[in-house]
Amino acid sequence: MILVTGGSGFIGSNFIRDWLSRHDEPVVNLDKLTYAGNPLNLSEWDQDPRYRFVPGDVTDRHTLTDLLGQTRPRAILHLAAETHVDRSIAQPAPFVFTNVVGTYTVLEAVRHYWSELQHHERKNFRLVHVSTDEVFGSLTPAEAPFTESSPYAPNSPYSASKAGADHLARAYSRTYHVPVVVTHASSNYGPFQFPEKLIPLLVVNALNGRPLPLYGDGQNVRDWLYVEDHCRGLAAALDAGIPGAVYNFGGMSERSNLTVAEKICDLVDARRPRPGEPARRSLIRFVADRPGHDRRYALSCKAAAGDLGWTPTTDFEQGLAATVDWYLDHPDWLADVVSGDYRRWIEAHYPGLALTT
Ligand code: NAD
Ligand code: TYD
Repeated sequence: MILVTGGSGFIGSNFIRDWLSRHDEPVVNLDKLTYAGNPLNLSEWDQDPRYRFVPGDVTDRHTLTDLLGQTRPRAILHLAAETHVDRSIAQPAPFVFTNVVGTYTVLEAVRHYWSELQHHERKNFRLVHVSTDEVFGSLTPAEAPFTESSPYAPNSPYSASKAGADHLARAYSRTYHVPVVVTHASSNYGPFQFPEKLIPLLVVNALNGRPLPLYGDGQNVRDWLYVEDHCRGLAAALDAGIPGAVYNFGGMSERSNLTVAEKICDLVDARRPRPGEPARRSLIRFVADRPGHDRRYALSCKAAAGDLGWTPTTDFEQGLAATVDWYLDHPDWLADVVSGDYRRWIEAHYPGLALTT
């Protein structure tokens, strides 16, 4: 059995779907169901005996200790986090609580659980702590990509809180020898991403004929990683990650935000033509820049290629077209998320859960 934290979010739900479609091994998903957690992302697995959802908060030590004792996982994938940079600028507190205190609480609960395992279970156990390229700060266009040992230089409350969590993960590996693996992924895209993030936001706005806001001059560069490629990397880290190691998972697909926006406009125009109206590129608007906006991210992924045999396989243009198609083919999911109806579903099914927005 493996335990996933934050499995109802974007990457977690893609990971669990991919895992259950390729493995017999059961998955337990511990998730607080914040605004970013949507149990409908995994509704097709509700009746599957290999899948169990447990509502709960990673900052709650009792929940974690009870769950570890009951389920006795052989590995943990720690994804639960607050993840949106703009929200971290507006309100940093939940980022510090969930990302720093939550990761500390997971590490502490795991340290006690792991130390009491039998020798062979202790040897094979892994805690994969999922982090981001954003902890390394910003690159200029001429600089080489970040490596696994690049110095930390976070610029947003989000990336600073992830950096704090990473340092604790490293310390638990060095001090207590808990078999922790830290991963840094570049910007993910794909199905089930909450439409506050750039790609789904632009798809939704392009579909609805609304303005497409680009911060600053639109020349900030992200290295886009298709979520399924990331999920395969995480599965490989759970199975073969070396305790104490750090793995970068990059998409080898650097694109400016303006290029991404133009491609989305063209894809939506081709699939939902608007006869007599201007091409959707005319909806692109340059708006006030994000404070502390990192100019460029890029990752070198030598350790993942060497230890895990991992490289990204999805071509960005194909992945983007598949992503646009997914949103166009799932209008009900989108309408539920945009209208907030999925929150009403959660309140009806988990009335005791302290929901946050
Ligand atoms: P997301 O915001 O879509 O999902 C986060 C999930 O965590 C949600 O289901 C939410 O309900 C849950 N959660 C939040 N606070 C919690 C708490 N206190 N206790 C339990 N559950 C809680 O995020 P995502 O994009 O799927 O990212 C998952 C992880 O991957 C994060 O750690 C993030 O930092 C990391 N990451 C994301 C990207 C990306 O591009 N999305 C890139 C690199 C790394
Ligand atoms: P985002 O999806 O918020 O991810 P992150 O900041 O974690 O990389 O943003 C991706 C890029 O898109 C980033 O350079 C900020 C930019 N952006 C816009 O230009 N407009 C928007 O409305 C959003 C949400 C992001």
